[in-house]
Amino acid sequence: MSSPIDLRDRDPYDVGQFEVPDGYREDLSGVLVSAGEIRSRVARLAEEVTESYRDREFYPVCVLKGAMRFHVDLLREVDLQGYGEGVVRASRYHEGPGSDTPAVNFPQPDAIAGKDVLVVEDILDEGHTLAALFEHVESLDARSVEAAVLFEKGKDRGPAVDPAFAGFRIPDEFVVGYGLDYGERYRDFRHLGVVDPDDVGD
Ligand code: XMP
Ligand code: MG
Repeated sequence: MSSPIDLRDRDPYDVGQFEVPDGYREDLSGVLVSAGEIRSRVARLAEEVTESYRDREFYPVCVLKGAMRFHVDLLREVDLQGYGEGVVRASRYHEGPGSDTPAVNFPQPDAIAGKDVLVVEDILDEGHTLAALFEHVESLDARSVEAAVLFEKGKDRGPAVDPAFAGFRIPDEFVVGYGLDYGERYRDFRHLGVVDPDDVGD
């Protein structure tokens, strides 16, 4: 498996160097990863997923809603046929900001048993979300569970979680776009941008 592309020491692109919707321009302080870089890296991850799951009971699970674009773009490039797929909701903020234990909700929990589950997640931060998802999937009698994570923040993790497939290692900033939101905004932004939550809406 390839290591994530480490962008922690790369300066963000200037927002003015990319096409940015007018309403977003003043909220974003930079572009960390361009849409083209995301596309190229997702294609490589898809090759690795294909190779790894060729003779297994592949069952990708999209972590709603942030990973929706990554999930679809990844599976478009994965060269496997005849597999099922699922979704899961995991929210760390159900007990208010800062809660470590995410609420996990599978609409079809019975589908997991005996499957080689690939959790498809947008971003790994402290690791609480992925750790809870792994525990939940294991409790549903999956045959195996691994994760594909597009972005990883490079800071110290609480729980030890190690995604089998990881796209980019990024600095510890709040990022939006390519499915990631801040208050349901910016999911449609094509690149991965940086927002300063204090500035939004000013
Ligand atoms: P943990 O700390 O549990 O956090 O690994 C992972 C979850 O937190 C959300 N998250 C973000 N969402 N921009 C976002 O839009 C970010 O910079 C960010 N950092 C963490 C995300 O939902 C992920 O599932
Ligand atoms: Mg998420």
